[in-house]
Amino acid sequence: MAKRDFLSLADLSSDELTALLDAADNMKAKPTAGAKKLAGRSVVLIFEKPSTRTRVSFEVAVTSMGGHPVVLRGDELQLGRGETIADTGRVLSLYADVIAVRTFGQDRLDELAGSSSVPVVNLLSDFSHPCQGLADLQTIRAAVGSLEGVALCYLGDGNNVAHSLMFGGAKTGMDVRIATPRGYEPSPDVVARSQQMAAETGGKLSVTNVVAEAASGADVLYTDVWASMGKESEAEERLAVFEHYRLNDDALALANDDAIVMHCLPAHRGEEITAGVIDGDRSVVWDQAANRLHTQKALLAWLVD
Ligand code: CP
Ligand code: NVA
Repeated sequence: MAKRDFLSLADLSSDELTALLDAADNMKAKPTAGAKKLAGRSVVLIFEKPSTRTRVSFEVAVTSMGGHPVVLRGDELQLGRGETIADTGRVLSLYADVIAVRTFGQDRLDELAGSSSVPVVNLLSDFSHPCQGLADLQTIRAAVGSLEGVALCYLGDGNNVAHSLMFGGAKTGMDVRIATPRGYEPSPDVVARSQQMAAETGGKLSVTNVVAEAASGADVLYTDVWASMGKESEAEERLAVFEHYRLNDDALALANDDAIVMHCLPAHRGEEITAGVIDGDRSVVWDQAANRLHTQKALLAWLVD
């Protein structure tokens, strides 16, 4: 059977996505489920950008499933001295059963997947963050009770996390509304593809520059940092541009009374979200972080099956 990679939520069918979320719920309910699934197997985890949650949750997930995680920074590999991604993927496939990478361009992941004979996992790229998207969907399904028809308002930068929410929401019939400042909208290609997917599932996908349009009647309010990794030099300028796109009490007042608040973390209190909102009683950010472990265990089990 052909190997499967996990590079974008757009690559999964709606049924596959739901099955993964069901498996993640099972992993959460029974922490020993999948305990031997990676016995005798190794997973290489490469980080070309910093990470707290992804790195630790994957390392713990692999170990708890009986596998051996090999965690490396990008600059520890020969990649930094000019070895190609293609050669790297070909060689790592000789030793490992899964290769997972956090990097800059999505094209690097595509190239790696093309040259590797084992599954390749996207641990975050400038374009998308599908592992985060999986945990987000599991969190919403548990907190709200379903995904179909659930209105999610994402405020802030039309970035990698927004893209994965758009794909994941569209695949599961959600009503995803993205509100960004002008010039910071998500990729037009992701918008078009998500709208096409939403048309098939009964979901909706809209993009606006008006916060109230996206937040009114929302079941979920979501935000992420204004300056992602790699955009640090723009951080100062972005503070002014994003000022009116903060997840604060005003945004919360527009949403449904029982709306939940989400953030992929790390958070900058006082910038994209106020301390009162992220630390308030609507916030599910710690469940969201915890679900990274369960969804990734389900993902690894699926990839090596
Ligand atoms: N949300 C997330 O991916 O966090 P890390 O950057 O800490 O891995
Ligand atoms: N958009 C953020 C997500 C961090 C998990 C970044 O890329 O830095």
